[in-house]
Amino acid sequence: MILGSILNRPDVGEIEHTFWLPNQGTSVAKDVDVAFMAAMWVSVFFFVVIVGAMVYFAWKYRRRTEGESTSDIHDNVKLEVAWSVIPLVIVVVLFFVGLKGYVNANVPPGDTYDIHVQAQKWSWTFIYPDGTISPNKLVLPKGREIRVILSSSDVLHSFYIPAFRVKQDAVPSMYTTLWFEPVKVERTVLMCTEYCGKDHSSMLADVVIMEQADFDKWLDAQNKFEPTAEKGKELYASFNCQTCHGAQGEGGQGPKLQGVFGRKEQTNKGEVTVDEQYLRESIMTPSAKVVKGYQDGLMPPFQGQMKEPQLMAIIAYLKSLK
Ligand code: CUA
Repeated sequence: MILGSILNRPDVGEIEHTFWLPNQGTSVAKDVDVAFMAAMWVSVFFFVVIVGAMVYFAWKYRRRTEGESTSDIHDNVKLEVAWSVIPLVIVVVLFFVGLKGYVNANVPPGDTYDIHVQAQKWSWTFIYPDGTISPNKLVLPKGREIRVILSSSDVLHSFYIPAFRVKQDAVPSMYTTLWFEPVKVERTVLMCTEYCGKDHSSMLADVVIMEQADFDKWLDAQNKFEPTAEKGKELYASFNCQTCHGAQGEGGQGPKLQGVFGRKEQTNKGEVTVDEQYLRESIMTPSAKVVKGYQDGLMPPFQGQMKEPQLMAIIAYLKSLK
């Protein structure tokens, strides 16, 4: 928990888990675990049998005296057929154990609730059917069949919720999809599982599962959004701005934000006075005018990732950083 707050990770508290994995959070998780456990225990059984036999034979047939000749062993058809056919039967059985769950997990039901997920270095944006944009916090209704439609703004990322047992790549310029039905009210974590650069390991998001009624209230509250400096401060944290722009001047990769409003900056397109228009442009299309001494292309464009009221709130917050 403390580590989470230092590393700027979602604080999901203790995640309940079984010996190997977090508790099953979706209807498909059971099928995944059955297939995983079957493959694992078959492997454990044969590991013990094979390594045990190997050690026993090494001891039993060890060379006892100098110059002793090796025993003369020929092929044994029955034995060779047995050790080919038995594993074949086992892997065919394992294939069918996994098949049902795999097909179920890959074919979404007809009437799903669709959420668009946009991945970018190094954050997640969730876009709901009513246009609500939620940065790094995926709120879901319990007991609803949900389909996520994934894409990426830059490089390959991968959407993974361990408690849900679902994983899918997010690929630039195409959509990939995934569906699941959360079965428990809980908080858990979404991870990126495709190495995507410097902050890959902190590319995490909160996953919050609510009862349908609470979910409706949450969604409703997002639409009655007021662009205050306070709200802007929350968004500044959820969009992970602090990774590069410390509010009090720390961070280092981007210009310091304290006292930014009204400041004169030297950019690669000449001097600018930082006003609302310049802040808007620098958030939505950061390459337009880059402050001297800072690298172009480091900051991702937020065009399409951020709604107008969210941008207004963040600008209100930046103005308040005197
Ligand atoms: Cu995104 Cu790793």
